[in-house]
Amino acid sequence: MTTVRIEALGQHTDTVVTVQGWVSTSRSSGKLAFVVLRDGTGLLQLVISKRDVPEEVWGRIAGLTQETSLAATGTVRAEARAPGGYEMHVTDLVVIGASTEFPIQPKEHSTQFLFEHRHLWLRSRRQVAIAKVRNEVIKAIRDFFYERGFTLVDTPILTGSIGEQAGELFATDYFDLGKAYLAQTGQLYVEAAAAALGKVYCFGPTFRAEKSKTRRHLTEFWMVEPEVAFNDSAANMRLQEDFVSYIVGRTIEARKEELKELERDTTPLERVQAPFHRISYTDAVARLNTLGSDMEWGKDLGGDDETLLAQQYDRPVFVFNYPKGVKAFYMKENPDDPRTVLNNDCLAPEGYGEIIGGSQREDDYDRLLARIHEQGLDPKAYDWYLDLRRYGTFVHSGFGLGVERTVAWICGLPHIRETIAFPRQIHRLYP
Ligand code: 4AD
Ligand code: MG
Repeated sequence: MTTVRIEALGQHTDTVVTVQGWVSTSRSSGKLAFVVLRDGTGLLQLVISKRDVPEEVWGRIAGLTQETSLAATGTVRAEARAPGGYEMHVTDLVVIGASTEFPIQPKEHSTQFLFEHRHLWLRSRRQVAIAKVRNEVIKAIRDFFYERGFTLVDTPILTGSIGEQAGELFATDYFDLGKAYLAQTGQLYVEAAAAALGKVYCFGPTFRAEKSKTRRHLTEFWMVEPEVAFNDSAANMRLQEDFVSYIVGRTIEARKEELKELERDTTPLERVQAPFHRISYTDAVARLNTLGSDMEWGKDLGGDDETLLAQQYDRPVFVFNYPKGVKAFYMKENPDDPRTVLNNDCLAPEGYGEIIGGSQREDDYDRLLARIHEQGLDPKAYDWYLDLRRYGTFVHSGFGLGVERTVAWICGLPHIRETIAFPRQIHRLYP
């Protein structure tokens, strides 16, 4: 007997095959039972008629509770009215694993309860749809860079230096060498790789011991970070708008079904095309003040300010050249206004806030060393990084895009914790 996945049933109509999966729903009258089966690739309606199956098989019907795993054999028929478009007229059915009182029922559960049962909740249609959108976003990210001749460079997770922000580090004992830190970013390493390969990116999990309990923060998240030799800040923003447009375009095209399942109105996403809007930090502060915010020059934009500003535009907006004081040590000083750096954030529309942080890097040895001292960092830990400015320094820029924030925006989710299978938050390490 051929065993097939539900997605492939179209090639097996009017033949007898076996499918394996989990029970979504089941209902039965005295003589006829309908079971909707789910195998991760689709849904299939099983039709079991008392008179077509041996008595012992009919006897199993009552036990087909939600999430029971089973193998069903029968003839596949196209049936437009059935979920998934096919039906199986069952001749044999074997229970693989019983499931009594599955904790997640088709009713309202608290968010807390659902996250405690995240390992089971992943099976729901909504969570499956989100996982598929995430998969598409990640494929689009890789394709974008591959098609443009970038080389993927895998950067270490255990590091000896601070990438972004002291105080937000996870530390672990590292043999005789003292502390190792979980990477907050792969950026410093891709800067080295950019001098070897020209156009590079890293893509992996990053860690921040941030005490932020917002809907935009996780302690572990995935970030993709391209780095390009001889790109200045303006070229960096052009790369970002092409990149974000590509990801969004690909995803709304390839994941229509899933976005429909998520009830996402894709009209705002269709507008996501280069060029994005651009506004300097200084102008953004003035603009925010006219909109009623009490934002002061010199402070970082908060989540509410980002939302308010982004609401003024019909597509993503770049805010560029922030004050030095609120940004990382490696950003290049703006020669036209040394109070600021040559950086940008990219704010997504619809209240999703910063999805990208990017900058041109400080390529001047003395200035970079001064910044390292100013921020109280240990110059010895950055000696290798300073070498990049000692041996053939070069204008270069890059950025980091957070996968979870991007997926939350594309899916239209209220919180980023649903965009990753097992989210890590300050108060969550289980499951
Ligand atoms: O702005 P960030 O901190 O930039 C960097 O790490 C740079 N090294 C990137 C670079 O230039 N190569 O982080 C970049 C992005 C943010 O815009 C956001 O999308 C995401 O990473 N991000 C987070 N996502 C979820 N939870 C958190 N705690 C995040 N912190 C940053
Ligand atoms: Mg940032």
